[in-house]
Amino acid sequence: MNREQVSATYEAYAQKIGDRKRVYKTIARTFDVKRALYPGSHVDIAPSFVIPHVIYVDSFKGTIRFFKHIEAVHRLVDERNEYDEPCTIEFFGQDYTQPLDIEPVDLIISQYAGLVGQATKHYLKPGGILLCNDSHGDATLARFDEAFELIGVIGSANELVQTGLDEYFRLPKGKDVDIAEVKKKMKGFRYTKQVENYVFQKRRD
Ligand SMILES: C[S@@+](CC[C@H](N)C(=O)[O-])C[C@H]1O[C@@H](n2cnc3c(N)ncnc32)[C@H](O)[C@@H]1O
Repeated sequence: MNREQVSATYEAYAQKIGDRKRVYKTIARTFDVKRALYPGSHVDIAPSFVIPHVIYVDSFKGTIRFFKHIEAVHRLVDERNEYDEPCTIEFFGQDYTQPLDIEPVDLIISQYAGLVGQATKHYLKPGGILLCNDSHGDATLARFDEAFELIGVIGSANELVQTGLDEYFRLPKGKDVDIAEVKKKMKGFRYTKQVENYVFQKRRD
């Protein structure tokens, strides 16, 4: 794959998943994120447009093929990045539940790729941020995990909303959230109020 093919692959994928750059930018700017870990990234390299050092992890062979052309990925990011620092992109073509030889990070991104926060939280610095959705119940598990505190949600204009957080993760009729069921089914519940992305801060391991 040359630079054009890498770009075309990314663009086609970005069309499919929508523009995530603005969400990543909100998080990067608000929390001064310099190093992020993105397990189960596939080819969503938008974090590198706004965060200087991103570590991508994915075991899918199509993703491994994409990142084999890391120089071309780098060139694409260099053309579009919005920071002054040099850009660093690392890729591990492996299962993210297996050990990763990396330094602690400021941010973990969990998007439609299983229970990423639970599997990788030990790589997050204390005070670091977990940005996640609830497609596989990762946000629910973080909400009921003492290692994390829900500090925000992403609003409809990709802004960070930090009020009314008690209203999230509530089931109709006040039913209790069954964590064992979330882990078993790897699926979040339908809550009375929900958003696409939740923002947690790590308190401890
Ligand atoms: C549905 S895609 C989502 C990709 C991207 N995060 C997004 O939101 O567009 C899920 C990706 O996670 C990867 N994945 C799922 N479980 C994984 C694991 N345990 N280790 C490494 N990659 C994993 C898959 O290979 C796939 O590329």
